[in-house]
Amino acid sequence: MASFDINIAMMNLAIRPYLPDDLDAIKRLTVEAFGGVTLEQNLESTLGLLRGHDWRWRKTRHLDDDVAAHPSGLFVADSQGRVVGYISTRVDREAGKGRIPNLAVAPEFRGQGLGRRLIEHALDYFRREGLEYAMIETMAENEVGQHLYPACGFVEVARQVHFARRL
Ligand SMILES: CC(C)(COP(=O)(O)OP(=O)(O)OC[C@H]1O[C@@H](n2cnc3c(N)ncnc32)[C@H](O)[C@@H]1OP(=O)(O)O)[C@@H](O)C(=O)NCCC(=O)NCCS
Repeated sequence: MASFDINIAMMNLAIRPYLPDDLDAIKRLTVEAFGGVTLEQNLESTLGLLRGHDWRWRKTRHLDDDVAAHPSGLFVADSQGRVVGYISTRVDREAGKGRIPNLAVAPEFRGQGLGRRLIEHALDYFRREGLEYAMIETMAENEVGQHLYPACGFVEVARQVHFARRL
């Protein structure tokens, strides 16, 4: 797609609630987007295939979890009927906490503010839900995340180290 066409597509882009028919598209986008920036792939690089499953299989299950846990907090970026991004959320009303477990934008739509728009959409949703704070996490190797989240007002509060071993 030429950049002119992408800009036209961005203008016609809407962020809307997730619909069950979006699940396959969201999973395809996840596989396309998360190479190099998911814990599941690091796990595979370290331990190899697990139960015969690769990182793509495990990562797309996270979306099944998102849909099962909180479908009304899942939003998609729709460009003329094509899902080109999504953001998932969790809400803990008692703690006042909103969390963003997953976020992705199709490669050809990146770098034009769509990731930021999706985050702002989730933050507005959290505010409407009466929450008090929001959390998001990223891999140390994810340079875009480490640039984008502070740019959206998040401040770093902790770093975590993940360990794994075969049994
Ligand atoms: C993270 C992601 C959703 C961002 O989507 P996007 O539409 O490109 O986001 P935006 O255009 O709103 O913002 C991207 C920002 O990162 C910056 N950026 C791009 N490449 C970068 C790099 N290598 N290092 C640092 N910053 C970078 C852009 O300049 C932009 O910042 P700016 O608005 O200050 O110029 C998208 O890159 C993606 O799907 N990545 C793969 C999946 C992923 O990492 N998900 C998040 C997991 S925590």
